Amino acid sequence: MITSTPTTRNLLNFSGGPGALPESVLRQVQASIESVPDVGLSILGISHRSKWFTDLVLDTEERIRNLLKLSKDYHVLFLQGGASQQFATVAMAFNQNTKHPAEYLDTGYWSAKSIEGASLNSKPVEKSPQIRVAWSGRDTQYTRLPRNHELALNKDAPYFHYVSNETVEGLQFKEIMGLDSVTRICDMSSDFLSAPILAERFSLIYAHAQKNLGPAGVTIVVIKDALLKLIEPGLPAFLDYRTHALAHSNFNTPPVFAIYVVNLIAKWLDDEVGGLQRMHEINQQKALCLYDQIDGSDHFYKNAVNPMDRSLMNVTFRLPSAALEEKFLKHAESLGFSGLGGHRSVGGIRASLYNGVTLNAVRQLSEFMHDFRSNV
Ligand SMILES: Cc1ncc(COP(=O)(O)O)c(C=O)c1O
Repeated sequence: MITSTPTTRNLLNFSGGPGALPESVLRQVQASIESVPDVGLSILGISHRSKWFTDLVLDTEERIRNLLKLSKDYHVLFLQGGASQQFATVAMAFNQNTKHPAEYLDTGYWSAKSIEGASLNSKPVEKSPQIRVAWSGRDTQYTRLPRNHELALNKDAPYFHYVSNETVEGLQFKEIMGLDSVTRICDMSSDFLSAPILAERFSLIYAHAQKNLGPAGVTIVVIKDALLKLIEPGLPAFLDYRTHALAHSNFNTPPVFAIYVVNLIAKWLDDEVGGLQRMHEINQQKALCLYDQIDGSDHFYKNAVNPMDRSLMNVTFRLPSAALEEKFLKHAESLGFSGLGGHRSVGGIRASLYNGVTLNAVRQLSEFMHDFRSNV
């Protein structure tokens, strides 16, 4: 029997984001509110111009570079405005005066938002001469992802954009999409640093922190140096990636606290987890545990996604009726589980299994699902 205390509620947090963070990191964060070791000041009151903080940014850049095995050809930036800001910034930087439209995949709620955000002055999106949707899963309710061989892509497109993990529907690409000869840009907000990737096949990756990397408030951008040279002239300094690359993300006041937590998470991935390959293995076990529970439930729990495209990060499922879903959520909440309600656009149930969620917590959820089904 699970007894619900504030601590167990943190351990049983399946929120779609901001999501659960590892306990050991939370403890360090808690202590840092009073005083950061070596500094003697609260993390909330340390100057962004201090040597400690500028060193912290460099260290965090380096840790992310090492985790992704990135060469010095890439910059690691810590920006504000969330992933939504990146939808527009990418288009402003690389798609204002281009001869060919940029190509986008529409594979779920967030990629649809990325297309909307990139259409700048052209509304509705369908009318934008700057954007071509190369594939859309809208008509099939976003239940499957395309394969590369299904796409007829333009080798002259200024860039190709997709979302690696669809957080709302629970779909995740298992292959890198697009042509290697075209600038590849990817929103990895909900699976960044959850597994090793061939990062150098991307020209630009962005991911907000609040799922696998830390609290809301900072967005990581990994950008190839050569891409900086293609930025259109005339952008406000703040919206120009070059400004932040040159200033090592310290052009104006950066989110000091959020970057500090990202640094702790990067250390945790290295020192406690044992790297991205190990993190991936744990994430696979977690997802398998829930998908097995769903598949073995005699259709009581139903996941609508093509099995090949299932996400390791967001496991979505429905129960036989809305009333049963409500009962499931209420009962789960009373036992200390939280964040299990599906995204407001689709309803149902969603268990988000970000890096900070433990295998033990997922096993408890799976057990609860089993008991719930047996007792209704
Ligand atoms: C894949 C993905 N992209 C973009 C966003 C939007 O992020 P933000 O709220 O930081 O703008 C989300 C939000 O959850 C997301 O899951």
